[in-house]
Amino acid sequence: MTLPSFIIASLGITLFGMTSPKINSEIIAEHEALKEQLRRHADLYYNQDKPEISDFEYDQLFKRLLDLESRYQFLEISDSPTQKVAGVALEKFQKAAHRKPMLSLANSYSPQDLIDFDLKVKRFLKTEVAIEYFCEPKFDGLALEIIYRNGVFTQALTRGDGLVGEDVTQNVKTIQNIPLKLKLAGKPPELLEVRGEVLMFKKDFLELNEFQLENSEAVFANPRNAAAGSLRQLDPKITASRVLRFFSYAVGDFDGVTFASQEEMEKKFSEWGLPVVESHRGVTLKKIAGSAEELVSFFSEIESVRHQLPFEIDGVVVKVNSLRLQEDLGMIARSPRWATAAKYAPQQAQTQIASIEIQVGRTGALTPVAVMNPVTVGGVSISHATLHNQDEISKKDIRIGDTVVVQRAGDVIPEVVSVILSLRPQKSAPFLIPDQCPICFSKAETPADESVKRCSNLECPAVIKESLKHFVSKRAMNMDKVGDRLVEIFYDQKLVRRPSDFFRLKRVDLLALERQGEKSVDNILKSIENSKKTTLGRMIFALGIRYIGEGGAKKVAAHFGSIANFLKATPEQLSAIPQIGDKGSLSLYAFISDPKCQAEIDRLMQLGVTFDQQDIRISDKLLGKSFLVTGALPVKRDEAHHLIEQHGGKILSSVSSKLSYLVAGEDPGSKLEKAGTLGVQSLSWLEFLELIK
Ligand code: IVH
Repeated sequence: MTLPSFIIASLGITLFGMTSPKINSEIIAEHEALKEQLRRHADLYYNQDKPEISDFEYDQLFKRLLDLESRYQFLEISDSPTQKVAGVALEKFQKAAHRKPMLSLANSYSPQDLIDFDLKVKRFLKTEVAIEYFCEPKFDGLALEIIYRNGVFTQALTRGDGLVGEDVTQNVKTIQNIPLKLKLAGKPPELLEVRGEVLMFKKDFLELNEFQLENSEAVFANPRNAAAGSLRQLDPKITASRVLRFFSYAVGDFDGVTFASQEEMEKKFSEWGLPVVESHRGVTLKKIAGSAEELVSFFSEIESVRHQLPFEIDGVVVKVNSLRLQEDLGMIARSPRWATAAKYAPQQAQTQIASIEIQVGRTGALTPVAVMNPVTVGGVSISHATLHNQDEISKKDIRIGDTVVVQRAGDVIPEVVSVILSLRPQKSAPFLIPDQCPICFSKAETPADESVKRCSNLECPAVIKESLKHFVSKRAMNMDKVGDRLVEIFYDQKLVRRPSDFFRLKRVDLLALERQGEKSVDNILKSIENSKKTTLGRMIFALGIRYIGEGGAKKVAAHFGSIANFLKATPEQLSAIPQIGDKGSLSLYAFISDPKCQAEIDRLMQLGVTFDQQDIRISDKLLGKSFLVTGALPVKRDEAHHLIEQHGGKILSSVSSKLSYLVAGEDPGSKLEKAGTLGVQSLSWLEFLELIK
């Protein structure tokens, strides 16, 4: 597609690198006209529901406006749409009252308080008989209430102030492990309000931050913030693109069902397909305790596995197991008398900042990294921590020589929490990221709509090297014998300057390199050769298109099905890819309409890179469903898995109540039995084929 002429005119596109110098009055006139045009289109779109131009065209105009405003300081921007993007586009969430208040928990950092809690419960109930407690981790996420009517998901609310929450229904619908329909054999409860916690697993948090950083979007301080930021999005597409999970642990109002105990409640939840915490690598994460000592030992047991869990917890929650006793105990202020939490102290340490290094990433972003005297936090030595960007450094006023408190965000990423000002050396100065790229010495600038300084040189060796490292990396082309160091050497020796050059490398070139013997050269060439057979999703990810991470690339591949379709996509087709935001689709369009990028893809294909169709989605028939295949089937196991994935289904590795279907062939063994006891539906191969017919 060619851009409409009015956009080309307003972009002031520079043909053959030449611009006619515009005089200031022309710039002001263009700016005024653009502001007016955008205001009108925003009003048509947001208020009148009758847009006259596509989102893509709107974004192009907006980009031009931003560009003008960042280039010419004399423009009047106080009334510009760039100053109130959020104000125009964003509407607040609808509010809704909770039928039963969502309470908070009394908590402490001392396991001793668990002993006191047991005493208080007994005193209140005027009993000396042992009380049964249900113990589980205290999830460090955000509380959510999901309302099911007659077994069907109808609404989801955040906790809000406990009495009134925000309606996040559309976003919660995109969370994969939340069933839209409860698995009930008989009559479903008329009303069931399930309460629990929305979390982001540590690995998903790390991946998200990596992606945010590469795309100069704000990084999240920890998985909890990332989960909250992802859930409280006005655009459900963004929520859908983040991996969130839910654990159920309580009820609000309910009708048409009874629960005798907390334990029975979670058992029923699990049978109905609602996720509850179970165990991790053989360690059971919940327990029924009958004494104060057992409460304390649960606290310690969980503490010892805490850092191995895939998600963050910040303590344990102890609840009186019997719901009848819970009722007797009631509540005090905003917390129930029948539950308490004991938290783990955060793991932090002190150290000194020896220097601040500037790294240049593949998008040219200059990232400051604190180099610290090594210190141990939670059993792991920390010596480097990213400081993200200038805003972060200025906000915390981090300086070279400062003594700082460090911790591991998400239990993984080292993070500078704060500066101990009383220990600051007398001679110290605020740290400023330089205006020059430390690698190529070109000017480094902060683009108008970003918070990250970038090297302005598109040919900066650091940018190219990092892009090449990304291209060969495991999740991209997976050239497993070509590590970062080798990419640097290839670049420095002028052997590789762009991705296709990897496929032109010759034996003699490699043998001429220092310390490369016959055998290792063979291995390198073999790993390059093997990488040629790849998938479209990997290829798109490998190309390092801005705003397109691994998951996004897969979605693009699945949407278009072939490289040819992708390369000829129109802006409208790109903006219709499910779960790809506007920035992503604009960036994809910029990529495929750049002749240089097209030429590079041509070169790659001519050199023998091929894409198999493995990651191509045929239908959404199995979307949201999980499968486990067992026994002998008429097709190979791999083929069965492939078929499930092609139709949007997920493969699980064990039978649990989370499993939607067990596909059982001949001699299915114990899995079929287990599925039966858990109420998981089993399918024969033919029944399975019916599902995708
Ligand atoms: S039961 C208070 N169980 O902790 C009503 N809450 O500080 C009973 N939380 O708002 C809640 N993990 O969001 C319960 N396993 C768990 C929990 C848990 C985390 C949260 C919950 C609550 C907050 C109180």
